[in-house]
Amino acid sequence: MTPPLPAPTAVAPRTPAVVSRLPEVGTTIFTVMSALAQACGAVNLGQGFPDFDGDARLMSAVKQAIDAGHNQYPPMAGVPVLREAIAAKIEALYGHRYDLASEITVTAGATQAILTAVLALVHPGDEVIVLEPCYDSYEPSIRLAGATPVRVALSAGTFRPDFARLAAAITPRTRALIVNTPHNPSGTVWTDAEMQRLADLLRPTDVLLIADEVYEHMVYDGAAHQSVARHPELAARSVLISSFGKTYHVTGWKVAFAAAPAALSAEFRKVHQFNVFTVNTPMQHGLAAYMADPAPYLELPAFYQRKRDLFRAGLASTALRLLPCEGTYFQCVDYSGLAPEVAALSEADFCRWLTHEVGVAAIPLSAFYADGRNQQVARLCFAKRDETLQAALQRLNAHLPRR
Ligand SMILES: Cc1ncc(COP(=O)(O)O)c(C=O)c1O
Repeated sequence: MTPPLPAPTAVAPRTPAVVSRLPEVGTTIFTVMSALAQACGAVNLGQGFPDFDGDARLMSAVKQAIDAGHNQYPPMAGVPVLREAIAAKIEALYGHRYDLASEITVTAGATQAILTAVLALVHPGDEVIVLEPCYDSYEPSIRLAGATPVRVALSAGTFRPDFARLAAAITPRTRALIVNTPHNPSGTVWTDAEMQRLADLLRPTDVLLIADEVYEHMVYDGAAHQSVARHPELAARSVLISSFGKTYHVTGWKVAFAAAPAALSAEFRKVHQFNVFTVNTPMQHGLAAYMADPAPYLELPAFYQRKRDLFRAGLASTALRLLPCEGTYFQCVDYSGLAPEVAALSEADFCRWLTHEVGVAAIPLSAFYADGRNQQVARLCFAKRDETLQAALQRLNAHLPRR
């Protein structure tokens, strides 16, 4: 028999107060802009994900994996067939062979991989350098490890690495540097020469590199992605992170990987094991089967370059100035040439205005800086169906024609 429930007391239930581990974290601008876009019926080019589905062959590979009974816990580091596919792809593209047994770990998205790498390798009191503007998970990850984020700005206007500033930021307490190429939000892609300079800079130090390469297959105009896996010296001190969500148009699946030398991977896996432990089995089998054909990722640059060119051609007749877009699926625009009352708006206010008055949602670049600085630049995402891009272009051209 079930024992009777205790009689209710007159004391009001009370949740004990907590001291936040991340007091500075609130609702992000991404959530705010998406809600505003929906409320205004705006075309949402703020969200950094596709509004189209991934390849039907990938979907059916996952369904087949479910039907084949791949539904229980997989090995902690990921299913061996997927780790083998990842190792083979990296070797074929970048020339470095990672050992699947000890050097590749499948993660629940790149965001988890970044946090795991930081928690595993960084100690309280350490410093971790990030190059801003940067993806918003870096700083909270560093703070959760009890370390101090040290922000070094990419060069104003070009968003290229400033090696003098970077060198000046390295101290005996610097444990790691996070580099993201191709770069969100600016769309810049590091060159071979820049990677060489990075290798030169880090050579005399023990600084580790966390290489966020989630947009590795979105590099345009015939340029090559400069993975750390192309640079043996950098690979030896790096955790390379990439995401299937970006590569295969399935951001909601949250499957990614981290590849690193065995000594770094061993520490990475200690945290991974007690954080997520394992990642969704049928997705891993489906991805492994789908990766047997390299065409989808080899054809991705052409797929997105066409969208980039379509979008840029449509924007060329507006008063927005286009910044270069060498990679990623983001196009940054400078609105300083618009009517003075609009050009004078802060980036956040400009994006609100654009959503309300023009009907196109964008993200202010200031959201990617700690100090929220304004450069009169907004980020638009072109990972959208052509119809979505055309609808946005029609509104932008109608409201913001070039004079
Ligand atoms: C630079 C960068 N790193 C990491 C991520 C996160 O990837 P995932 O969805 O696999 O966690 C994103 C997603 O927008 C990103 O832009």
